[in-house]
Amino acid sequence: MSKTKNKHELVEKHVGWLAVFAIIAISIGGLVEITPLLFQKQVQEPVKNLRPYTALELEGRDIYIREGCVGCHSQMIRPFRAETERYGHYSVAGESVWEHPFLWGSKRTGPDLARVGGRYSDEWHYVHLIDPRAVVPESNMPAYPWLAERTLDGRLTERKMRAFQRLGVPYTDEDIDGAGERVRGKTEMEALIAYLQSLGTALR
Ligand code: HEC
Repeated sequence: MSKTKNKHELVEKHVGWLAVFAIIAISIGGLVEITPLLFQKQVQEPVKNLRPYTALELEGRDIYIREGCVGCHSQMIRPFRAETERYGHYSVAGESVWEHPFLWGSKRTGPDLARVGGRYSDEWHYVHLIDPRAVVPESNMPAYPWLAERTLDGRLTERKMRAFQRLGVPYTDEDIDGAGERVRGKTEMEALIAYLQSLGTALR
């Protein structure tokens, strides 16, 4: 009895040991929960109509990341009636299998964008990104007028696509060869809008 008590005291009174044992306990719990998830078919199989981003959409996605859109917009529709009535079918894992990194986000200063593709015209997005107040007077979204002026040089496009290919995104060599050439000279605005128009379109 007193022996086990001593052992307990050792752990409870020495923060170093407490930390070591706490980390071991939490790691086991974490592994038990997370490891099976990684091997579930449901989280690895792409949904039926999923296709990899085109070169232009991929560049648009990088602009979305650069401009911090994810700080105000989630891309994750939760399976609640209030969300599915507003945004459409809830998000499923099979839509994100080729996302590296995923942009699910959690902050919703603005609406969720997981299925914004096709909801508005390209022109609407253009006007909205140049000056959100021009189409939504009460909007507090920042304006991004420089996107219409800056053009892509396509210097890294092919390398980015190769990196994704290595991560398992099914790009063919034909998709990749000349991709930089195809996006060169397009504006960042065109790329971002192409990306937005693709969001959530594989599953409706
Ligand atoms: C400071 C927060 C904030 C940031 C950053 C932000 N937005 Fe927004 N966004 C909003 C708000 C608020 C709305 C709702 C009002 C409106 O439509 O302008 C909105 C609306 C939108 C909509 C319309 C969605 C719909 O379903 O009606 C799109 C598309 C959009 N934002 C794209 C973007 C993109 C792309 C970026 C990055 C370039 C971005 N937003 C950055 C706050 C933000």
